[in-house]
Amino acid sequence: MAHKPDGLFEYILIHYRWVFVCLFLLPASFLFDIWLYFRNWIVFKLSSAPKQHNSKVKHVQEQVRKWAKKGKKQFICTARPGWQTVSFRRPKYKKTMYNIDVNLVDVLDIDLDKKTVRVEPLVTMGQLTATLNPLGWTIPVVPELDDLTVGGLVMGTGIESSSHQYGLFQHICTSYELVLSDGIVVTCSSEENSDLFYSVPWSYGTLGILTAVEIRLIPAKKYVKLTYKPVRQLEKITQETELASKNLENEFVETLVYGKDDAVVMTGVQTDDVDNRKVNAIGKWYKPWFFKHVEAILKKNKTVVEYVPLRDYYHRHTRSIFWELQDIIPFGNNVVFRYLFGWVVPPKVSLLKLTQTDAIKKLYENNHVIQDMLVPIETLKTSIEKFHETMEIYPMWVCPFKLFANPGMVHPAKNTAAVYVDIGVYGVPKATNFSAIEATRKIEKFVIDANGFQMLYADTYMSREEFRRMFDHSLYDEMRTRLGCKEAFAEVYDKVNRTARD
Ligand SMILES: Cc1cc2nc3c(=O)[nH]c(=O)nc-3n(C[C@H](O)[C@H](O)[C@H](O)COP(=O)(O)OP(=O)(O)OC[C@H]3O[C@@H](n4cnc5c(N)ncnc54)[C@H](O)[C@@H]3O)c2cc1C
Ligand SMILES: *[C@@H]1O[C@H](CO)[C@@H](O)[C@H](O)[C@H]1NC(C)=O
Ligand SMILES: *[C@@H]1O[C@H](CO)[C@@H](O)[C@H](O)[C@H]1NC(C)=O
Ligand SMILES: *[C@@H]1O[C@H](CO)[C@@H](O)[C@H](O)[C@H]1NC(C)=O
Repeated sequence: MAHKPDGLFEYILIHYRWVFVCLFLLPASFLFDIWLYFRNWIVFKLSSAPKQHNSKVKHVQEQVRKWAKKGKKQFICTARPGWQTVSFRRPKYKKTMYNIDVNLVDVLDIDLDKKTVRVEPLVTMGQLTATLNPLGWTIPVVPELDDLTVGGLVMGTGIESSSHQYGLFQHICTSYELVLSDGIVVTCSSEENSDLFYSVPWSYGTLGILTAVEIRLIPAKKYVKLTYKPVRQLEKITQETELASKNLENEFVETLVYGKDDAVVMTGVQTDDVDNRKVNAIGKWYKPWFFKHVEAILKKNKTVVEYVPLRDYYHRHTRSIFWELQDIIPFGNNVVFRYLFGWVVPPKVSLLKLTQTDAIKKLYENNHVIQDMLVPIETLKTSIEKFHETMEIYPMWVCPFKLFANPGMVHPAKNTAAVYVDIGVYGVPKATNFSAIEATRKIEKFVIDANGFQMLYADTYMSREEFRRMFDHSLYDEMRTRLGCKEAFAEVYDKVNRTARD
């Protein structure tokens, strides 16, 4: 808390950020979304995207060849500005590396015989569910926030409450198309160029430039029958979560932990048969924020069953950016605000970042945590205790997932699929004498020892050695040598470490 804002203007920007956010960012975000919606709708209706895809990929190839001709003096990265990514950090390397313009934003093809959809990497989750769900289809894992992109989710990772069945986002992808450092286009899948296929996830854009992704489709129903079960006592919370994740009748499993001994375990199945009295369209602008709705059920201490429209379920944490928005617009969940202005919420994470002052950045760094740690589910109890002891941030997002024993950076310790769990902490720590570096270091050590992983978008304080202990680099290193990546792309560690970012 040592940071003192200089001057009145800074003070207002920090303490009354909501004024700026409400007056400027919300309308701007809203207009931006409307523009994107119409643009995507028109492109999709005209089916112009598939025709243009090849020429857009050629444009990427030309830029890579030009970079080679100029003598390969810098590393390559995509030209998408750092403020546009959903991670709260901004990469510094965008300014110093050779930027390749990758304007690949469209849904290319829906193949109902193969049950796949082919998309360009900048397609977002919101765009994809809006295109697929009305046709009666969906992708098996839909990471929550509308603005997450397919490219980011493949190159980093993606997870959702269906991941205990289907795995991480990369596990529902059947092929990738990339432009390599020599300018050649390759396609890879579990059958074709499988080494490349398995080394792309978690490589963070350091093996090639992604230009298309093929994703599996499953039928979509109209509603999710969602059961909210309040559970008391940490021991029971972890048991219930584990049991729910092992019961494959549950399509969706998610636990929100509100305190060390208080949680709600949610399980869901898709359905078309609804009990109309129990329908709750939680995505409507005037509805309470989802985590507040769940907290109310916890307080009532009774199991509740609801029918939630499918897209409302998928994007249930979008309107409140999980629970990040409560720190930015403190009265955002107030009923009057919701009815009057709920429809312009949330501000886009990208615009929030674009307008962040250095003072806010510092404040965030020292008093705010955004972390996702992936650990074996057997360690869930000790992990929650560790987070409680070092940070004490609630609610805590707990999402079980299956980690397949594929080759690559991230795999279970033993050579069989294992159940893991993502523990997400987003918010202001309540632990006494909290220090961001010390606390994160402790958690990182704990996670390495537990055979777990840290999501790449978050702040990491690991050394290169620790990073290499957490992530298996054997296939990655081999591919980097084989594909001439060492002179073209930075190593993952050099893109995500503390000094590589603001
Ligand atoms: C509050 C909050 C909540 C979150 N919730 C979730 C969640 O519920 N589930 C979840 O899975 N994740 C969640 N995330 C994290 C999210 O998964 C990551 O930020 C992820 O990387 C996606 O972000 P993005 O689409 O903006 O990708 P970016 O950050 O833009 O990209 C990630 C990396 O991939 C590379 N890349 C992207 N496109 C290409 C390309 N075409 N070619 C080569 N390289 C490329 C980029 O260079 C970059 O290194 C959350 C993050 C925050 C801050
Ligand atoms: C919640 O209900 C359970 C029984 O269903 C009871 O054991 C527990 O004490 C209750 N907890 C609170 C905080 O009301
Ligand atoms: C927190 O810091 C203060 C002052 O530095 C110290 O007196 C106190 O013992 C610390 N508390 C804990 C729990 O470490
Ligand atoms: C972090 O990455 C930068 C490049 O972005 C690199 O120069 C630096 O050595 C890395 N930090 C550490 C501690 O290795």
